[in-house]
Amino acid sequence: MRTVLGVAGGIAAYKAAHVIRRLRELGHSVKVVPTANALEFVGAPTFEALSGQTVSTDVFDEVESVNHVRIGQEAELVIIAPATANIIAKIAAGIADDLLTATVLTTTAEVVVAPAMHTEMWHNPATVANIATLRQRGIHVLEPAVGRLTGPDSGPGRLPEPDTIVDFALAAADDESFAGRTADSGPLSGRHVAISAGGTREALDPVRYLGNRSSGKQGIALAKAAAAAGAEVELVAANVDSGLLVGLPAGITVTEIESTRQLQTAMASAQTRADALIMSAAVADYRPAETNDSKMKKSGEDGLTLTLVQNPDVLVGLVAARRPGQIIVGFAAETGDRTHSALDYAKDKFRRKGADLLVFNDVSEDRAFGHDDTVVQILSADGDEVLAGEEVRGSKDDVSQKVIDAVSRQFECVESTP
Ligand code: CTP
Repeated sequence: MRTVLGVAGGIAAYKAAHVIRRLRELGHSVKVVPTANALEFVGAPTFEALSGQTVSTDVFDEVESVNHVRIGQEAELVIIAPATANIIAKIAAGIADDLLTATVLTTTAEVVVAPAMHTEMWHNPATVANIATLRQRGIHVLEPAVGRLTGPDSGPGRLPEPDTIVDFALAAADDESFAGRTADSGPLSGRHVAISAGGTREALDPVRYLGNRSSGKQGIALAKAAAAAGAEVELVAANVDSGLLVGLPAGITVTEIESTRQLQTAMASAQTRADALIMSAAVADYRPAETNDSKMKKSGEDGLTLTLVQNPDVLVGLVAARRPGQIIVGFAAETGDRTHSALDYAKDKFRRKGADLLVFNDVSEDRAFGHDDTVVQILSADGDEVLAGEEVRGSKDDVSQKVIDAVSRQFECVESTP
């Protein structure tokens, strides 16, 4: 396939190098058309070496071959990654003042835009309106990932991982190499699964936080099991040790977040793409009413009173917003007491949260956090009745396999229901 890769001027321009490599591995010929600003971030020789084709930015380059029209006309797919707020605005307005914008204006191929910018720019009404215009015109816009941005800030606006961009673009172009890869065997092939992992943290000041002991191992094991079952996996990782995120199999893209509200934004974004959502993250239910900009000092008084405010319940929000057929899985780590067993509390939580499946973990003996072995029961519902599945004992990988099997069965049930 003849693919044009437009690169706009943002710090994420370096990720375009991986997009080129991936496209070429899949047999595409790649013509890179950077903006002049993009070349401030990555030099033309890098793009030329990786693509094997000359690189130009200006409509007056290679005038004899009428480049500004020819490239767009010959393209079978146009991807812009990263797309800045500026280039998005130009495309929305139909401006063609450089080779990339002229190419977009002349092409009849599918156009895929992968935005990357600061959260404020992404939320700006001008950008929101421009994105809506692009989508109305049939341009495919990939939602930006949520996570660390160029500075110390984080939020939606991060360029998604190169594999995600390429998969999204190939699906948009209905490319056979994509269909071939997703039609692999596996009960979840062709499915998109979003999984939260780890534990959210709420900042008290720049160095302290309220958090929990979740390591993220269970969520990562789930992501691997889902990918092995053929799913495209979006892993939303809350404060997971970076060592655990290295070397994940292909098919898993990672968005890193810290707080509950960031988790909510990331999962809500994933929900627009997901066939199934699995909330294995341990979520901070409260956050400090105020976060101090500088490190808090001892006051000299005996105690310290913190005022906390309640965080949103992410799982309940996902259940409320779900599309028909979308499967939602919750987790519950419970302890029993003199009046109720841990299982009683889990059943009660299952009813309250309204998920399709609840993975119940008895943590009375402090067995779960940070260890490799675990014991769970997968609860499902038959009308109002909560059904407790048999106990699964084993490694987090074993448990994940059972959860993914249960999700696959749930899809079969949903699809066989008239
Ligand atoms: N959860 C969530 N948002 C929250 C709290 C929990 O999405 N604010 C999700 C968790 O990811 C998990 C399920 O809800 O899938 C149960 O989490 P748990 O902490 O056991 O539930 P809570 O609602 O916090 O219940 P409790 O009052 O027992 O703390």
